[in-house]
Amino acid sequence: MKIGVFASGGGSNFTAIHSKILEGLLNVEVSFLLTNNSKCGAAEYAHHHGIPVVHISSKTHPESETYDQAVLQACLEVDLIVLAGFMKKLPDQLIANFPNKIINIHPALLPSFGGHGFYGSRVHQAAYDAGVKFSGMTIHFVNEVYDTGQIIYQATTPITFEDQPEDIGTKVLRLEHQHYWQVVKSISESKLQFSESGRVQYLAEHI
Ligand code: GRF
Repeated sequence: MKIGVFASGGGSNFTAIHSKILEGLLNVEVSFLLTNNSKCGAAEYAHHHGIPVVHISSKTHPESETYDQAVLQACLEVDLIVLAGFMKKLPDQLIANFPNKIINIHPALLPSFGGHGFYGSRVHQAAYDAGVKFSGMTIHFVNEVYDTGQIIYQATTPITFEDQPEDIGTKVLRLEHQHYWQVVKSISESKLQFSESGRVQYLAEHI
């Protein structure tokens, strides 16, 4: 299976997934890393590991139409798009062309703390302010509305009273690294089933 990874930031999830490929535990090929920020950690990692970097941003493609076309063109050959901290809105046409073929990871237990404006440390601050006793991460399919696609997999972590927002972030990121590659693996092994209404049944066990 060929995957395209989209990232804008540090790229720790991208790194975690790619490490599993290097370890021989995940049998997929990363066709490219697409980024809107050519200087981000994810792009640097890709360069170091000989993974093609596709840089598409509002600087390289100021018109939204050509931007959208460039993103679509880049994805023609891949079977799955893996969003790993990608901070730009996806072209509608990409979402329409890749039903159940774009996945995202969100650093909270959706549908809580998701949607517009919930990204980065804001998510953990909101969870902290609400006094949650558990947080976690959600891996879900991407549809046209932020953070509302069908949930594939979730993992939780207990939050203590002493945990600060940064601590919540650290605990959740650890879960993300532990589970994202396993979901990619499960998809590559066709271990997902869909009900008629679109709900996802996940048939894999995580290690
Ligand atoms: C992660 O917290 C992920 O849940 C969110 O963006 C962040 C990306 O972090 N979608 P990194 O760049 O993979 O370190």
